[in-house]
Amino acid sequence: MGGMINNVVVVLSISLIMCMNTMRLSYGAITRRTMEEIWRINKQGPFLGIVVPNAFEMNPLLQSPSFVQDSQLPYFDFGGRRFRFGKIGSEKVIITMTGLGMLNAGITTELLISLFKMKGVIHYGVAGNANPNLQIGDVTIPNYWAHTGLWNWQRYGDGENDELALEANGDYTRKIGYLKFSDYYNLSKNGENLDNYLNRVWYQPEEVFPVDGVPEQREHALWIPVDSHYYNLSNKLEDLELENCVNATTCLPRRAKVVKVERGCSANTFVDNAAYREFLRSKFNVSPVDMETAAVALVCLQQNSTPFIAFRALSDLAGGGSALSNEASLFASLASQNAVTVALQFISLISSSSLEFGSFYVQ
Ligand SMILES: *[C@@H]1O[C@H](CO)[C@@H](O)[C@H](O)[C@H]1NC(C)=O
Ligand SMILES: *[C@@H]1O[C@H](CO)[C@@H](O)[C@H](O)[C@H]1NC(C)=O
Ligand SMILES: *[C@@H]1O[C@H](CO)[C@@H](O)[C@H](O)[C@H]1NC(C)=O
Repeated sequence: MGGMINNVVVVLSISLIMCMNTMRLSYGAITRRTMEEIWRINKQGPFLGIVVPNAFEMNPLLQSPSFVQDSQLPYFDFGGRRFRFGKIGSEKVIITMTGLGMLNAGITTELLISLFKMKGVIHYGVAGNANPNLQIGDVTIPNYWAHTGLWNWQRYGDGENDELALEANGDYTRKIGYLKFSDYYNLSKNGENLDNYLNRVWYQPEEVFPVDGVPEQREHALWIPVDSHYYNLSNKLEDLELENCVNATTCLPRRAKVVKVERGCSANTFVDNAAYREFLRSKFNVSPVDMETAAVALVCLQQNSTPFIAFRALSDLAGGGSALSNEASLFASLASQNAVTVALQFISLISSSSLEFGSFYVQ
């Protein structure tokens, strides 16, 4: 008898421990204390968000004398992310690092905009270059961004005129176009027109759910424009002097410059491949190719069209342009410094433009 009671107690306490563990593991609500802290922070807002992919791109900004960290509240950690508070000139900023890729960039931007009172988002970093007229070190400012990694991969045997799987439902489309793998054979014999079991991938727009739309009723978005006021303001960046030397001996052929371009694209793929780079250029007319910007753009679009702009410094000719296997490692520090220089100059333009137009906002 006694043994049985003991067993029951043991079983009960094991289930209690398991239950507590489960609760700890799955516990995701925002605590009251955290909410109160965020509420106090937001009384200081609105802030300008600076969203950066990786540490090597963020550190030059944190180390810049232009950034003055808030001494009362230097940072706030939430959801595995760090939000750093401070000022750049007269602008109150929150600097955060996303980590690699679309999901990380999307999550971090969503947290930033949902938790804090933001007036705009500036994104900067390095990118691969698909534009043969530009050089490593140049900082591009695209007008539009798209996620080019959402595909419908067509079965072998189907052609251009065959409907895609689930196309009739409106889930997928053939309007944007495709990449066909057998167009990229390097034929060495007889110029044979070989096919390829990989067939085609058709590019798809993103499904979006704007905060002011009907919940769960999808809309579609491909090319996301940056904020037009920010884009116009960035005209004033084009004569900025940028670095073109890594050190005394390693320099680029000409001085790096700031260039406004039509388009950039992002996907969860590091493009170190000349054939794909040239395809992206001819199909979409893109200059920078990266792994995060379109995710930041897609989140800003859905969150009340939060003003957003991106500066991406070219760190390599995606897929090779020189004898080096990939120039990214050689020029990444130069490129990230140039991106920081442009972002800082842009923030000072925002400050002066809000002073200039300040009187319009006074009721
Ligand atoms: C195509 O194949 C030939 C023969 O194998 C090779 O010499 C050439 O470099 C290849 N071209 C490309 C662009 O890969
Ligand atoms: C930006 O400039 C374009 C072209 O000059 C103009 O059409 C547009 O209205 C401007 N946008 C803003 C917000 O000033
Ligand atoms: C300059 O940088 C290049 C690339 O990192 C390196 O190979 C070279 O040794 C450096 N030269 C000097 C003088 O530091």
